[in-house]
This record gives sequence, C-alpha cells and structure tokens, in this order.
Amino acid sequence: MPFSLTMAGMTDVLRVEPTRPDRDAIATAASCLRGGGLVAFPTETVYGLGAHALDRAAVQRLFTAKGRPANDPVIVHIDSIDRLAPLVAAVPDAAHTLAAQFWPGPLTLVMKRSPQVPDDVTAGLETVAVRVPAHPVAAALLVAAGIPIAAPSANLFSRPSPTQAAHVLEDLHGRIDLILDGGPTLVGIESTVLDLSREQPTILRPGATTIEMLRDVIPDVIMRSGDQPEGAAMPSPGLLPKHYSPRAPLTLYEGEPTTALQRLVSDATDALKRGQLVGIIAAEEDWHTIEAIGPATLQLIEVRYLGSEHDLPAIASRLYTAMRDLDTAGVAQIFARSFSTDEGLGVAIQDRLRRAAAGRVVH
Ligand code: TXA
Ligand code: MG
Repeated sequence: MPFSLTMAGMTDVLRVEPTRPDRDAIATAASCLRGGGLVAFPTETVYGLGAHALDRAAVQRLFTAKGRPANDPVIVHIDSIDRLAPLVAAVPDAAHTLAAQFWPGPLTLVMKRSPQVPDDVTAGLETVAVRVPAHPVAAALLVAAGIPIAAPSANLFSRPSPTQAAHVLEDLHGRIDLILDGGPTLVGIESTVLDLSREQPTILRPGATTIEMLRDVIPDVIMRSGDQPEGAAMPSPGLLPKHYSPRAPLTLYEGEPTTALQRLVSDATDALKRGQLVGIIAAEEDWHTIEAIGPATLQLIEVRYLGSEHDLPAIASRLYTAMRDLDTAGVAQIFARSFSTDEGLGVAIQDRLRRAAAGRVVH
C-alpha cells in the first residue's frame, strides 16, 4: 500500500515515508492546502501547521485552530529562494548569501514585505519571515502545492512544539484537516529567526543555525538583547516569557553543574516527601546522582534522560518530547537541569528551557 489513511475525528492522518514521501499523499495534502485547508507536516525542526499564505481566510482559520493571538506573525515557507521575490519589497544581498549557505535548512529570514503578503500573516508588521525547510516531506509538499505556505509550529499556543505526529493530534485533533505523519523530526527545536530588516542583522530567536555559523558568512550578526514584554507589539513573540511550556510548572537549575544537580535532587526529594509525583529532565551523566534518591521513592519519579550532556543535538531533539511525556505521566512539577553552554546549539536549548521555566530559575 502506498500510504495509509486513518480517520481520527475530523482530522485525517496520512503516513508517509520521511525520505521518499508517497506522491498521492503529497498530492492530497497539496490540494487540501490550495483549497484553503489546514495541513500539519514535518519539517526538519518541528511539525508545522500549514495554510495557503496568500489566502486570508485560510490564515485566519490557522490562528483559530492554534488559539494563537493575532499579534503573533507566522513564518512563510517556500520551496526555494526563487519564490522569495514576490513576498518581499527587495531581496537583500545578505539573503542571497545566507540562502546559498543555509537553505534549505533551519534558518528563517525577516525582511521588508511586499503588499502581496496578507496582514494576517505578518500581524500587521512591515516585515515578513520566510524560510525554506529541509525535510523531504515539507519540500515535496511545497513543490506540489506551488504556493507559499504559512506555517507556525503545529501546537496549541504556548504548548511545547510538536516533534511527532502524535503531539500534533494531542493538541489539534479535530481542529485541522490533515496530518502528514513522517515520523519524528530531526532537530527538535525551531529554526533560528534572523532579522535582516534592521541596520544590523539580529537574531530574534536562537535555533539550530548557530550565531557562530551565521558569523562565518555575515560577520556582523548580533543576538537580540533583552526580552519582549508580554503582549507588546512584536518583533518576535516566540520571545514571550511564557512559551514552549509544559503544563506542569518547570524549574530550571543553572550554574556549576554538580551543585545545580544537588539542588535539583534536594528540591525533588522535598516534593516527593510532600507526596508529589515528580518529573526530572536530566543528562545521562546524572544517572548515579538521581538513582541515589533511593528505591523507596524512585517509583514516584519520572526521569527523562535526554542523552549525554556533550551531545547537544540529542538533547535538543528530545527536549519537547520529554516535556510532553512528563505532562502525560501527570507529574505535579518538573525539575530540569541546564545544559547551558553559551555557544552553539546550547544557546537555543537554554533559551527554550528558560521560556518553559517562565522565571522559575535556581542559580
Ligand atoms: O522551525 C520553525 O521555525 C517552525 C517550523 C514549522 O518551520 N516554525 C515555527 O513557527 O516555529 P512559529 O510560528 O511557532 O514561530 C515563528 C517565530 C515567532 O517567534 C514569530 O514571532 C517570529 O517567528 N516571526 C514571524 N514573523 C515575524 C516577523 N515578521 N518579524 C519578526 N518575527 C517574526
Ligand atoms: Mg511556535
């Protein structure tokens, strides 16, 4: 069978081979999008929820399905830089240079927009965010649809982004038309958002394309400073203090790793004594310290070991799944260790953990 069609309420799920997606499945999804429907699909970062970017009604449905505030602009996905010109006032030189190096891939570029892009996509901003995703399913879908696709992450607003089709169903079951299930995504956290509309190219959201990688190509790239106050007019609402959050309150332990882990274990033990079911997000190296909590209480702990603390791609790829798993397990609190390094992929991981912690940081 080329693909399987499963009914799940009003939301169909089509399984596709992640590397060689079935043409019929892609054609079904593409025509759904062209007709104004909502289709979730895998990208290399997280699952996106797609809508025809030039169809205002479709984009409005997308905001409703996610429960996303209208002042939070979405990223427009295209299949190659050749489709960029109609969306922007002008293609900046830096966009050519960066696209040659990083597209397709986890880099979103913010540029002055053209009048063709509906206000609903840009939340009324004079800029539009665009990227070319690298996942074969996303690429095939964009080629088949032949339209720009507006796609935020396919989660309910403020929940962790989905890295598996099951996460999309969990949040959006019955609220969207179709899910292309291409298995788990590779990167696991969202793309880097780089603003080219400012005097100096500025990273608004760190991601898998690191500042070091960007500076190799455009030396004057800077990281945005300070957080956006909640509810303020954008630059980047992904920067809202509370975003990417599990339901259970998450506390983040930063600083010298041994001390941080001891504090985490001590606070988790206190919560256990109060009879709480406790969730822990840790690295493989933390195993001994955590197991030492003792067998009597260990049944009340759900631990997710994301991988070696030195393997940041593994940590990133499992972070959101761990948050969702712990919610499903019904933990009352989550204690997370920091994987902080202030370079490379560590910056993006730390950013997402801090947002999930929404201020509950022990240092
Ligand atoms: O990896 C990703 O980027 C995923 C996949 C699906 O492509 N998409 C994603 O979309 O994370 P979303 O909507 O969850 O996050 C988009 C981010 C938000 O922080 C938003 O504020 C920012 O991009 N953004 C969108 N348009 C913008 C604009 N015109 N100016 C500044 N920031 C913008
Ligand atoms: Mg999102």
